[in-house]
Amino acid sequence: MFITQSTIFLFNLIGGVKMKEIINSLSVFTDGNKNNQAIIFIHGFPYDHTMWDSQVEVLKEKYFCVRYDIRGLGESPAGDGQYTMEMFVDDLEFVIAQMKLLKPVICGLSMGGYISLRALERIQDKFSAAILCDTRSEADNNEGKLKRAAAIKRINTEGLAPFAKDFITNCFGDYFKQNKKAELDKIIEKSSRFNPIGVKGCLLAMLGRTDTTIGLSKFNIPTLLICGEQDLLTPPSVMKEMFHKIPKAEFVEIKNAGHMTPIENPEDVNRAIMNFLTKAEQLRK
Ligand code: MLT
Repeated sequence: MFITQSTIFLFNLIGGVKMKEIINSLSVFTDGNKNNQAIIFIHGFPYDHTMWDSQVEVLKEKYFCVRYDIRGLGESPAGDGQYTMEMFVDDLEFVIAQMKLLKPVICGLSMGGYISLRALERIQDKFSAAILCDTRSEADNNEGKLKRAAAIKRINTEGLAPFAKDFITNCFGDYFKQNKKAELDKIIEKSSRFNPIGVKGCLLAMLGRTDTTIGLSKFNIPTLLICGEQDLLTPPSVMKEMFHKIPKAEFVEIKNAGHMTPIENPEDVNRAIMNFLTKAEQLRK
């Protein structure tokens, strides 16, 4: 069959094809029908938009799924690597405005969660619901800041690959590490090829982010918190504290998963998201 630009557009309208566009120099990817409720996914560090593949595969049937690579990671350019969390929220706001997304659901994991939390503090009325995966509202403490500094020093002296290997391995729980070794190696290999300037820029942006805890009690949209039972970076105890501060929240702990729940146990994460979105929709009616 001869596939024209308009055929691709039509495929996309009925939810068949992943599309890519460049917005404000960021690589933005969409799946599903643009007329459906939008979900905007924000990945963690040091990953890219493909960490949500298993969610989009299922959710694109009913939702317009928008993903982008955070500045400096994946296919988005590193530029000068001088990033702040505020810039990352500006990027998110720009993508939403440019794509004319009407009250999307915001869904962020870890660093994507930091961006989501600050966005909810700044522009909550732009969203209809929030999904916060494996993240925390506290800023880095002194120990955390020194770890970021050591990471930058290590990348400068040893290159990106050794840091990426150790950091990413620590993100995953025992089940994935033991049973999905080839998949884990592929993820490490991909992130090791990112631009070190972008990776270090993200470390600095996380180091300098504000504490968003105070804003949690002001959330007035349905919020789902998801956390892997073996998450070492943002453990269930930390996320449960956030859960108790957010008025319309629910908390789901994911079995057989560490910090990267959407990759480690996609079935349970998809189920939790679908159930939550169905309830959130009913609340809006
Ligand atoms: C992430 O997954 O985005 C990172 O673990 C966040 C962090 O290093 O604080």
